Amino acid sequence: MPLVLTDQQRQILDGKKGTFLQRYMEWMYKWGTAMGARRMIPVENVLTGGLSAPGHMMAGASRNAVEKQREWMKALCRHRVKCTTFAHIAALDLESPTYIGTEPEDISFQQELIELGRQAGIHMTWTCTPYLVGNVPTKGQICAWTESHAVVYINSFLGARSTRHGGDSAIAAAVLGFVPEFGVLLDENRRAELLINVSTELETDTDWGLLGYYVGKIAGLRSPAFKNVAPPRLESAKQLCAGLATSGGVTMCHIIGVTPEAPNEETVFPMGQPREVYTVGRSELEETRDCLQNAKSDDIDFVYMGCPHATLQEIGEAARLLEGRRISENVSLVITMPYAIKAYAERLGYAEIIRRAGGHLMTDTCPCSAVFPKKRRMITNSVKHAHYSRAILGNEVILANSDDCIASAIAGRWVR
Ligand code: F3S
Repeated sequence: MPLVLTDQQRQILDGKKGTFLQRYMEWMYKWGTAMGARRMIPVENVLTGGLSAPGHMMAGASRNAVEKQREWMKALCRHRVKCTTFAHIAALDLESPTYIGTEPEDISFQQELIELGRQAGIHMTWTCTPYLVGNVPTKGQICAWTESHAVVYINSFLGARSTRHGGDSAIAAAVLGFVPEFGVLLDENRRAELLINVSTELETDTDWGLLGYYVGKIAGLRSPAFKNVAPPRLESAKQLCAGLATSGGVTMCHIIGVTPEAPNEETVFPMGQPREVYTVGRSELEETRDCLQNAKSDDIDFVYMGCPHATLQEIGEAARLLEGRRISENVSLVITMPYAIKAYAERLGYAEIIRRAGGHLMTDTCPCSAVFPKKRRMITNSVKHAHYSRAILGNEVILANSDDCIASAIAGRWVR
């Protein structure tokens, strides 16, 4: 069955609304056709990617990139986005740009992007957890989000509907106001295929991340349903989704009895029962931790928390552990978070406690997206960061729960 367009959509594809929109519609049409979509449906909520100054890593070459992006943003301003649109993570931190040595021209371009974004209708929030800071899609809302863990989160815990988007498809969705309808946008694709019996207690947020990472490998593109787990707190849910989307291409999962579309086992599986059943216990989680760790010694020089971007609760917990303490002089402690969460952390005194202890609060970006020191021996509470920082930053990695990360930052070595 072909992808059938409305008259309005056909006019855009035929170039009657200009070449800017036509290019995006051609792209969307091809993508929709390849994915078997039968129609384009209105989208209400977009998380874009790549709306940032490039950072100094590309130096001379980046000046061209900046010019191109400036021109493109100006074109975008003439068309404006058609729905709620937030910006995914940036390559630099406007709050403390010198911490990672950002070039002055990148800082001024980043500031210019805020104004261009405003004119285009995009909230330049620069976070991977927009659902913490004002963009909380409602049940059934059609979304087009980048950031793989956030896609799993909004599908699984909020009941919103988004396929996994890249930067181009998300921008296309925002400027056109349509997405091709396929995958989890359709009721029949929102059921689970795998049943995961969890036979161990999940004691920390990091345990949830390990569960997600282990199951993501088994699931690939399929949706798992978890059984025998207590309702996760937000921070644990965030880590579960990050794990699933890092080792696998999972778009949504279910926790039976917890997530909106999983009241019971019968509802979750298309035929009332799963295709495959797995049991995950403590040994599978520890095996997963061993795969993610590659540090050659317990001495560390970097502690990183806030992947995905931290909640206020996480910042408060870190501050409680650091109050009156001082981190080792050999260690940098960085916690990343959305700008709005940092503003709360400042007001509530958490930021000052963490700074006084020697830690650094970073917004807008993260070590994998900014120009960041490489080849360190680090400890993190995030399976996603453990996975990527080895490849992107060449780090030696230890994975530990949040309390042990802070204790290790103080001691200068891995404290278990
Ligand atoms: Fe966010 Fe960076 Fe982690 S984008 S999910 S903090 S790798």
